[in-house]
Amino acid sequence: DTGKSGYDHYMLKEIHEQPSSLRQCLRGRVNELQGSVTLEELDAVVEQEFASPVQFVACGTSYHAALYAASLLQQEETPATATIASEFTTDRVPVNDGSLVVGITQSGETADTLRALREANRAGATTLAVTNTVGSSAARAADHALYIRAGPEIGVAATKTFASQQLALLLLSVALTGRSSHDDIQSLRRVPDQVQTILDTSSARAIAAELVDSQAFFFIGRGMHHPVALEGALKFKEITYEHAEGFAAGELKHGPLALVTEDTPVFAIVTGDGGTARKTISNIKEVEARDAPVVVVTDGVSDVERYADHVLRIPETDECSAAVLANVQLQLIAYWVANEMGRSIDKPRNLAKSVTVE
Ligand code: G6P
Repeated sequence: DTGKSGYDHYMLKEIHEQPSSLRQCLRGRVNELQGSVTLEELDAVVEQEFASPVQFVACGTSYHAALYAASLLQQEETPATATIASEFTTDRVPVNDGSLVVGITQSGETADTLRALREANRAGATTLAVTNTVGSSAARAADHALYIRAGPEIGVAATKTFASQQLALLLLSVALTGRSSHDDIQSLRRVPDQVQTILDTSSARAIAAELVDSQAFFFIGRGMHHPVALEGALKFKEITYEHAEGFAAGELKHGPLALVTEDTPVFAIVTGDGGTARKTISNIKEVEARDAPVVVVTDGVSDVERYADHVLRIPETDECSAAVLANVQLQLIAYWVANEMGRSIDKPRNLAKSVTVE
């Protein structure tokens, strides 16, 4: 199949397209000299003052992007929430003409997300669709659209669209909060090259071959890396059909630790050397004490590698950009385990690229 450009699967091709799709996402939107972000299509939204928290709604992988987006805004002291679209109703979540409701959907056709956007419109909210598809139902249903420009994605498992959602939401958070420095903008600009470095150097394939026969696979992260852990597990279960779960690192001890054995690898995301990293490292020690194989996704800043059986390295950057980079390593882990198992990677059983029923 020539469409795969020599790759065995669309998913692997699309993983490798990320440096270029991420560059497309940034194109014309960042000004390094001024340390600013311009999203022309959103000028009217950015100027508006909103009375209530910014509400992100989405499903599946896009919901993980929504959690990430809410964390980005919260970090800048802008209240924000993330809600699964099928759980979003305006009688339970207060929405009025002072609200901004952001539907995140790569296809722009997900029924649950469309319903949420339409309901928010009826309640008087300003609505925004963050989507990959120009002219999609979501783009038409919402007052405004922000395009992530990932290009077409054939693999059912979302990869490059998730990375582009993250980057577009980083841009959106800078635009909405007006907070950015020259350094922030520089780290944004470096993301595409850093993803390329990961693709060129990742040890995911060898690690996947070692761990493929495990009983279950757990993913943990804290702060910006919590949604990445959830997404790592979702990608993994979608294409391997194995039991995979993502947890907030701090929640492990409140239940899931009962599942951890020497046969359940734990993938942990740790970047920097601040309080967040140190707390995740103590959670890692807890799983290590249960003899679980520990795989760390890390920039190598802390001493976390001392507690790891395997390391997936990412370049050093701030935590927000690191969440984009860490996810790429977990995409590769999911891909190579599924490949080792001979799964139907581009068309996993029971799943569809977009779901147009509620
Ligand atoms: C389907 C796909 C998922 C996707 C979800 C939301 O379930 O299989 O990969 O994350 O829909 O899709 P959307 O187009 O709204 O981002």
